[in-house]
Amino acid sequence: MAGRIPQPFIDDVVARSDIVEIIGARVPLKKAGREFKACCPFHNEKSPSFWVSPDKQFYHCFGCGAHGTVIGFLMQYEKMEFFDAVADLAQRAGLEVPREAQKSGEPGSVDLHNVMGLIARFFEQNLADNIRAQKYVDARGIDAKTTAKFALGYAPDSWDALLNRFGSQEEERRQIHQLGMIIDRDTRGGERAAGFYDRFRDRLMFPIRDSRGRVIGFGGRIIDQGEPKYLNSPETPLFHKGRELYGLYEARQARSDFKRLMIVEGYMDVVRLHQAGITYAVATLGTATTQEHLNKVFRLTSEVVFCFDGDRAGRQAAWRAMENSLPLARDGRELKFMFLPEGHDPDTLVAEEGPDAFENRLNSALPLSEYLIQQLAIEVDLTHVDGRAKLKALAAPLFARMPEGIYREMLADRLAARVSMPAAALKKSFLAGAAAGANSAAMDRPEPSMRHRSRISSGRGNLLTQAITLILHYPAAAAAVSDTEGLDQVDRPGVAVLKELLKQAAAASNPSTAVLLEQWRDLPEYERLAELAMAEPLVAGAEGAAKELQMAVEKLIQECGPGRRMDELLRKAEELGLNYDEKAELSLLLKSKGRPRANP
Ligand code: CTP
Ligand code: MN
Repeated sequence: MAGRIPQPFIDDVVARSDIVEIIGARVPLKKAGREFKACCPFHNEKSPSFWVSPDKQFYHCFGCGAHGTVIGFLMQYEKMEFFDAVADLAQRAGLEVPREAQKSGEPGSVDLHNVMGLIARFFEQNLADNIRAQKYVDARGIDAKTTAKFALGYAPDSWDALLNRFGSQEEERRQIHQLGMIIDRDTRGGERAAGFYDRFRDRLMFPIRDSRGRVIGFGGRIIDQGEPKYLNSPETPLFHKGRELYGLYEARQARSDFKRLMIVEGYMDVVRLHQAGITYAVATLGTATTQEHLNKVFRLTSEVVFCFDGDRAGRQAAWRAMENSLPLARDGRELKFMFLPEGHDPDTLVAEEGPDAFENRLNSALPLSEYLIQQLAIEVDLTHVDGRAKLKALAAPLFARMPEGIYREMLADRLAARVSMPAAALKKSFLAGAAAGANSAAMDRPEPSMRHRSRISSGRGNLLTQAITLILHYPAAAAAVSDTEGLDQVDRPGVAVLKELLKQAAAASNPSTAVLLEQWRDLPEYERLAELAMAEPLVAGAEGAAKELQMAVEKLIQECGPGRRMDELLRKAEELGLNYDEKAELSLLLKSKGRPRANP
């Protein structure tokens, strides 16, 4: 079986391709200073906010947030898969794509994807064969076309139908266990009956597909009554709940240029909305909307509407979604909140009133800032000074989560009006509060997930972020950093990323922003790095960048590395005296400082 494409080859392909040429062949680019601009091919606009940088070999739309390298562009514009995009560029450059050999006996994710595809087919067949399940689908108002489009299926009412069909060999059993489709009795409740049983039984099955249409997990609804009503695939090598959106693949199949995406709560809602022609509906999988979700969605559109049931649970979910969206509220993006009448969800409502009436409700969706203020105002009595002060206090941490920009200004203006305070004064008090709390609160940090805690801290303008940004903008500047050893002593989250980038920049024969970014494509740090790559340059010109970078790294080592420890010890020596160990440590530190930098 063919393996991955080796990274150095990908670097080479990116380095040999010219993003201006590739994009220019598809989008009319106009030169603007050192860069090129155009009306964005990924969203509708009249004045150009799509920029292509020949220096960075990177594109970025300030309107919809689309961004990426030449590979990313082909994937987004031509809807190519990663491999095909690389192969296409390689062919232009006259290169043949090598593949890394795969260790034998170690099933790759290709195999797992295949198995999931077969299982989905198995469920589909079962649905076609089972009258009771068919009746349920009919009763829910889902027609045959929609059933096929979403590849709905049925997991038989049996403890071992799937197990027998796909797990008769030990190796197969290991795979479907890894895919979360069977459960090991031994790991349940201590009863030691050996063996496995099917996870999904007597359920209507909703296959969850990734952006390429491959089945990576399932949601299953019990037929008729039972607990739990819905069951999802567990986290597996293919499936991460907090990252996937149900219906996104189908929505993209329907069309590639959405005006908006609507995030609803349930599988059934998505299916019924699509059937009614509202094909821009997607759902989270029984979790709150995460930043990862939103990053994904904002790559496709600039307008997101959250649609919640009008009940208490819906309102709670909305508030959480709002909190999670704040860091992503940027100019050019719209985030809206829509609430349905109590007792309804999109499924029942669109059936009752039809798609046009349902879409009309979009007109009354609340923009994020309005929703936020409205909710806060419910909690306090605005006719009193106390109430206004409380509103301000409640809003301050939310304000701190938002990036700078028009969006945040707008929120402050609206809030100022509500608390009868000059907007400038309110902003000032917010910013002062944010600065004071910045270290402990770390509000604009990407949501940490247990699996992929981002290693980059994000205090705006902190030294580490500055250094990383400088390398991304001017990879050649990395050569100016000689003391990478000193960085080993720096104990800061994110320093590993800096070191890795320095190494990558030094190793690449022709480093560009794009070459660096491509090495992070599949890593959790990618989005954050892409964001920094798009940020305003801190300095203009490679020469200035080299100097700045060197200074930033030196300062980092001084502030967080052994230098700081040395200062501490020196101070203590003067004031209190040192014990034996401390003396030894200090002499070691002094010695290492005396060592010439250029020759580590
Ligand atoms: N959900 C879940 N686990 C549950 C209940 C719900 O994961 N035990 C998730 C599912 O993604 C479901 C969504 O939350 O689609 C909404 O659940 P709910 O509102 O309870 O159900 P409906 O979508 O209205 O489902 P139905 O119309 O089939 O009753
Ligand atoms: Mn429902």
